[in-house]
Amino acid sequence: MRHGKEKFDEKKFVKVGRDYLYNYAENNVEPLSPGRRAFLKGVLIGVGVVTVASALPILSVLNPQEVQLKNFPWIIIVDSNGTPIKASSVPINDPTIMLFQYPMLGDITFLLNMGDENNNPVSIPPTKVLIPQNGATYDFPGGVGPFKSIVAYSAICQHLGCAPPEIHFYPPKYFSPGGNVPNYLPSEAYQAALSAGAKSVIHCDCHGSTYDPWHGAGVLTGPTVRPLPYVQLYWDSNTDYIYAVSMNTKAPPIIDHPSDLEGAAYLDSYNKQTECGKLLLNKGEKPSDCYTQLQSDGNTFSGGS
Ligand code: FES
Repeated sequence: MRHGKEKFDEKKFVKVGRDYLYNYAENNVEPLSPGRRAFLKGVLIGVGVVTVASALPILSVLNPQEVQLKNFPWIIIVDSNGTPIKASSVPINDPTIMLFQYPMLGDITFLLNMGDENNNPVSIPPTKVLIPQNGATYDFPGGVGPFKSIVAYSAICQHLGCAPPEIHFYPPKYFSPGGNVPNYLPSEAYQAALSAGAKSVIHCDCHGSTYDPWHGAGVLTGPTVRPLPYVQLYWDSNTDYIYAVSMNTKAPPIIDHPSDLEGAAYLDSYNKQTECGKLLLNKGEKPSDCYTQLQSDGNTFSGGS
């Protein structure tokens, strides 16, 4: 077990707001450029709400009742201003936490744009993901976007449920020749990633589980025996928008959920009247049509809070 340089102080975060989160990232990961900070401004607000809600038990009484979805909804990923995030503007190899919620409230999910050591986008191919718990495998469909480099994985550790910032993305610069491994990323995780052909990892500080974002977030080091579930994304090349559209029911569900369709509450954007019908595309309908339809219906639809 290891810890980051500084423990994240949720109470301080509540008091100070997102500036505390920026400073935490800068002190424990790397400096944020002004452009990156501006881009993430809206996203980080969502992160803040999620972090507070998951970290402070006193807020749990405010959680809505658990429900069961019939289907996975199509959700466009937006920032906190309601503006759809464009694939071409998702920073490559960004270690700052970018999250959206899917498929239910509180199901926080990493949005990652994968790249090489020089921050060029890297196509993430389809692969089979092993479940160490039972030896079974399931298919991961690969990345999406103009370079097939954008992926989304649950940000809740499959060991005991630690959430960001305890679980974090470490980009390839930590895997450059010469072993530029920060002292807060254990060599065991680093070596496991290199052996697997991965150049970045998702690592959980709580007890040391490491996941391979280059190969479907499979397990690199325990104690977890279950990969991080992936969220299937859809990239609309006409608009450059990104949609979360489903999850693989053959993969282990998000921790503490009986399945990915139950165990939490509706997203704020979920249309209860139509039981997600308006969030699902009809056959032949393009995602952009779905977006327009939702807009015209006056829905607020967001993967975040
Ligand atoms: S909760 Fe992540 S390693 Fe234990």
